[in-house]
Amino acid sequence: MTGAEHHWWERTGAAARRPGYELAVAYARSVAEEHVNPLLALGLPLSVAGAEGSFVFDQSGTALLDLRTGGGAFALGHRNAAVVRALVTAAGAVDMGDWQLPSELRTRLSKALSDSQPRGTWQWRFCVSGSEGNELALRTAVMATERTGLAAIEGGYHGQTGLAAAVTDPRYLHAKYPPLLAEPIRLAPDASAAGAIDESVAAVIVEPVQLTEAIRPLEPDFLAAIRRRCDEVGAVLIFDEVKCGLGRTGPVWAHERGHVAPDMLVTGKALSGGLYPVAACGIRTDGSNQALLKWRSDFRSTYGGSLLGMVVATEAVAQLTNEDNRRAFRDAGDELEAALNPSLGRRLHRMGMAFSIDFESPDHALFVASDLLHRGVLVPFPRASTLLLFPPFTLGTEEARTAARAIVAAADLADDLLWGIPNDDLR
Ligand SMILES: Cc1ncc(COP(=O)(O)O)c(C=O)c1O
Repeated sequence: MTGAEHHWWERTGAAARRPGYELAVAYARSVAEEHVNPLLALGLPLSVAGAEGSFVFDQSGTALLDLRTGGGAFALGHRNAAVVRALVTAAGAVDMGDWQLPSELRTRLSKALSDSQPRGTWQWRFCVSGSEGNELALRTAVMATERTGLAAIEGGYHGQTGLAAAVTDPRYLHAKYPPLLAEPIRLAPDASAAGAIDESVAAVIVEPVQLTEAIRPLEPDFLAAIRRRCDEVGAVLIFDEVKCGLGRTGPVWAHERGHVAPDMLVTGKALSGGLYPVAACGIRTDGSNQALLKWRSDFRSTYGGSLLGMVVATEAVAQLTNEDNRRAFRDAGDELEAALNPSLGRRLHRMGMAFSIDFESPDHALFVASDLLHRGVLVPFPRASTLLLFPPFTLGTEEARTAARAIVAAADLADDLLWGIPNDDLR
């Protein structure tokens, strides 16, 4: 941008009159304009100054009920008391640790994650983001199979890394890195599509439930067909459960629904306890894929496996897998569903603690998201015509009712203003 250019948001009067506008503009100039633009497009300059439980607080102390939760990273709410305690206690004894020096704290998290798996024996590597976990899984598959082909499902989201390893001198990496920007095979989520996986494919990466645009569970038949085909051609099956795992879509692991086991599993987001960036890449050590048994460490990440992060994630896994807690999380979801259902009817979909509401158009969804912000409810910026909600699992009964009232009021207003017809005709 040259100095002479002006951004549209610098010329919009409505946002400029709101408190926080100056902070938002300073952020846009010095950090990332693209974080500020969607909020200003929704009419609200927002700078997060604090967070607690189900709420984030803006610069003026206004509370926003958080149904966005960073795509599920705050599954246990903001600054969960037990997670904060674990971190503070650990900080009295350890620091991040050196990634190459063993520590019992990593063994403990590894055991907790292995114990939560429906089947198999597992080994885990720790990193700082879901993207990095997927990167490690894909690279390990490339290395183990000595193939470079990759396959993914249409609509999948797996992260944004890759080029850094591609430009690292290959002598520092055990793996031959796939050719730059090679096009993966993209499979339609249809059992007949599995035939496209051939002997050139190192790995197939799958979110058992896609949660980026809408709630899209992959059918058990499709997952079974992919599993069979991977076994036939010797490809590695990776489940990316960064978003759908750790209870977000119901079971602790989303793939428990399909009764199909992966060779590798990547987790992140909720694993952080909302407090420390931790992700993990698991590999089945008893898997049928013989090529993977050649697996060895090709992974360096300075902050990966931070000891403070290990303590936080171990507490998060304990809370997310505890049966009493899980019952309470289900009750919280039931409460929200019961409050939304009478008004939203067929528009509402739910899997575990992932909710979506279908609107008639992208404008309609954007209007509702914007109106909700002004009613004190934060939701993910909508893609297309679906609004996704990722409430904290710890949402209280009153909070669920408050959220539902706001959502129903916003949807009704959108129907009236955008369609001008009685709401009942849309349901
Ligand atoms: C399914 C899935 N995989 C991977 C990622 C990347 O995770 P991160 O943003 O921590 O790199 C995301 C992030 O939204 C995701 O939803």
